[in-house]
Amino acid sequence: MRSFFSSDASRAQRIANAKRRVADDAAYAGLDYLTSAVLILNTDARIEYANAAAETLLEVSRKGLLGERFASFFSNGEVIDELFSEALLQRFGNKRLDMTLDRVQGGESLQLHGIVTVLIDHPETPVVLEFHEIDQQIRVDREERILEQTQANRELIRNLAHEIKNPLGGIRGAAQLLELEIDSSEYREYTQVIIKEADRLQTLVDRLLAPHRRPHIVSDVNIHEVFERVRSVLMAEYPHGLVIERDYDASLPEFRGDKEQLIQAVLNIVRNAAEALAPQIRGGLAQIVLRTRIARQVTIAKTLYRLALELHVIDNGPGIPQDLQERIFFPLVSGRDGGSGLGLTLAQTFVQQHQGVIEFDSRPGRTDFKVLLPLP
Ligand SMILES: Nc1ncnc2c1ncn2[C@@H]1O[C@H](COP(=O)(O)OP(=O)(O)OP(=O)(O)O)[C@@H](O)[C@H]1O
Ligand SMILES: [Mg+2]
Repeated sequence: MRSFFSSDASRAQRIANAKRRVADDAAYAGLDYLTSAVLILNTDARIEYANAAAETLLEVSRKGLLGERFASFFSNGEVIDELFSEALLQRFGNKRLDMTLDRVQGGESLQLHGIVTVLIDHPETPVVLEFHEIDQQIRVDREERILEQTQANRELIRNLAHEIKNPLGGIRGAAQLLELEIDSSEYREYTQVIIKEADRLQTLVDRLLAPHRRPHIVSDVNIHEVFERVRSVLMAEYPHGLVIERDYDASLPEFRGDKEQLIQAVLNIVRNAAEALAPQIRGGLAQIVLRTRIARQVTIAKTLYRLALELHVIDNGPGIPQDLQERIFFPLVSGRDGGSGLGLTLAQTFVQQHQGVIEFDSRPGRTDFKVLLPLP
């Protein structure tokens, strides 16, 4: 029996055939304007046509898609094979379903709503697939919520920090004077507690006020220099057991931004990853990937940008605890001993000062922090 997936034609031949057929049909052109990914498969379940949204979804160029088996782009591609077999047997005319596909490229899980349509009148290209990401809307909503929350928080924090800062100097000074007056070392212990705690609060307040204190200094920034600086700091802090891989898109343009702020933002994110990876670092299996990409048609805070830088910090640590996920950008929210819970608040503020946003996607074994920075 002939298998659905076997093909005698060489790969080059298959691509040439696919290109010819698609080029013949100008009717496909408009599909590139859709946000849904559209793929047309031939009788071998290989891709005959993919629109621009499909390229984005799979993170593979059209050239890399044509002639390939669609299922081969997912580690759980058997879901697709099964659907395809059913479609070929014409068990349905069209079918809608939600599915999770694990992308081989990048290892991401995609939550998709799919529509499979059988084209009875097109025996050479019998199956059309349409997909859109289910969590796209959820992500947009969450992003908006994060932005609104941080903007509201920022004013409050700033005022509160000022209110704390002023009396703090007085408390510390008074404790110091008191210390000079007392002879007993027992009481001196108490004044030392006051002084130390006042210093700790002072550091906290200084960090809270940091984004508002220094003017935004704008210059030409190469994002890879930012990543490289952070990488060298981390390599010095964790010389053993941590691998920091680079996956850079060398074609990214320079842009105008505050380099020091961006270094601080990325450093806070990468340092969190390294801290979460402590057990893996001891076992020598800790990995952080620094990835840069260009993103098109990005909406941030209700503004549409044609181009944006998309930075990823991906670690293979335990993931962010579920109950913390909604709150990690809030000030003073920390999930680790000794954490002050300011790292991400500051990172988000710095990135927002560049009209960007930080979001994340986390599950055990893979946490991906994404920084979007719009380009003019
Ligand atoms: N990559 C990650 N993996 C797992 N948990 C993370 C990761 N990044 C952040 N977190 C969680 O989010 C919390 C908040 O991070 P944040 O940087 O704001 O504060 P912190 O690291 O606790 O303190 P600090 O102010 O010193 O940075 C962390 O305590 C940690 O529980
Ligand atoms: Mg931190």
